[in-house]
Amino acid sequence: MTTVLERVCAYVLKRTTPNREERLRIITLAKNLKQKVEAAIMEAGIEAEIGVEGSVAKDTWLRNEPEIDIFMRVPNTVPRKAFGTVYLKTAKKATYGLKQIERFAEHPYLECMINNVRVNIVPCYTVEQGEWISAMDRTPFHTSYITKHLDQPSKNEVRILKQFMRGIDAYGAEIKVGGFSGYLCELLILYYKSFIETIKLAANWKRGVVIDFEGYYNGVKEELKKIFKNHIIVVDPVDKGRNVAAAVREKKLNEFIAASRAFLKNPDLKFFYAQEEKALDAEKLLYTMKARKSTLVFVMFGRVKTVSDVLWGQLFKSQRSLRKMLQKYSFKLIRDEVWSDEKNINMFIFEVGDRFLPSIKKHSGPPIEKREDCEKFLQKYLGAELTISGPRIEGNRWIVEKKREYTDVVTFITENLKGGGRHIGIANLLAKAITDYFEILVNEEILQIYSANDEFAKFLTKYLNGRLGWLV
Ligand code: CTP
Ligand code: MG
Repeated sequence: MTTVLERVCAYVLKRTTPNREERLRIITLAKNLKQKVEAAIMEAGIEAEIGVEGSVAKDTWLRNEPEIDIFMRVPNTVPRKAFGTVYLKTAKKATYGLKQIERFAEHPYLECMINNVRVNIVPCYTVEQGEWISAMDRTPFHTSYITKHLDQPSKNEVRILKQFMRGIDAYGAEIKVGGFSGYLCELLILYYKSFIETIKLAANWKRGVVIDFEGYYNGVKEELKKIFKNHIIVVDPVDKGRNVAAAVREKKLNEFIAASRAFLKNPDLKFFYAQEEKALDAEKLLYTMKARKSTLVFVMFGRVKTVSDVLWGQLFKSQRSLRKMLQKYSFKLIRDEVWSDEKNINMFIFEVGDRFLPSIKKHSGPPIEKREDCEKFLQKYLGAELTISGPRIEGNRWIVEKKREYTDVVTFITENLKGGGRHIGIANLLAKAITDYFEILVNEEILQIYSANDEFAKFLTKYLNGRLGWLV
């Protein structure tokens, strides 16, 4: 008799594994593209070895998300500059006629679409293992490592794990997600052998999980924690100096742990396929926001011209600065979030208990036994313009009630963002965009944006709901 868990896994496997035709279609497409890039390289009279890498080469791609990664391995005598010029141009020529988007990670690469399949054409250097020049030089080594060690049954397990990560919104090492990369999922399966073992062990992960299966740090495990300051450390088998899980943020790691526990208790497809939440209608939205009796502050600004990873990096950094500043000025922050369509709208959301703080603020002075400090305190506050009451003594300390600098959270943010807000820690590119334009909307004032933008509407609905998707 099969268990529910086995049935769920079998179903997911069936849905995520490409069938024979689909597999053939993708592999043929990849081969053809490889040949086209090879021909274009020849024609341009430049040097590069072309290879199919990534999940297509490793046979671990998800049926619904095929993505072909073609790498151009360039001799290390070629200057890096050439990646973005002659090699990018050659990649464009090879895929002439397709929809092309120039992208940039550590260096430029080309993305194109062919028959609804995303293709990345990425330059890197031909190097000896360990002698990395560019960030992508490890990739061919990853491909060989995985193809050498991952057998057919394990590929199935990888697909199930990847889909689980997708379902709980933890798939992808990009900064926006801060989750588990495809390569990391593959390594987890190599280490724990199966999806279900991975889930069982992850359910018990403690702070500072370490996986080092090439044993690079045998006997010196403590060293690892000094080198990598991450919450989970998975030493790259092809590079002992790299943590494959470096991109995993604490929150995503813990969401994965929590989801693993919940899945073991109740194996269900909802962990693999998140239900798309429908946005509340306008009336319900207003009702739900009102019922919270809090203040939702939406700080909106316009386009930031950069790549996704840089944008999200700057958004998160600036969010942290703003959060700290609000707390420092005593606004009772309940939650804060970032939203961006990566095109025209970027937004910080701060939810505070009250929009207004009292004008008066209690300020404690020195204890009475510190005679000199008491003298200074009195000098400063006695009769001062900011002093509303006092000074007086409470218990063993001098106390004044003074005027608060900012009482309205909206004025506070507005004042600090004028001129971009670099001085309060707004990251550079955002500060530029904010200098040009920003707008603060409070509570129901968001309705117009909400009604006009379905993605944002879903986001805000999710925010208000606040519950992890798989907890339904
Ligand atoms: N890679 C990496 N670290 C990242 C992103 C990518 O080392 N943060 C390397 C890996 O070797 C990976 C390859 O680049 O195999 C291609 O990246 P990607 O397409 O993101 O991963 P895939 O393994 O192809 O998985 P999938 O496309 O199915 O998500
Ligand atoms: Mg890929």
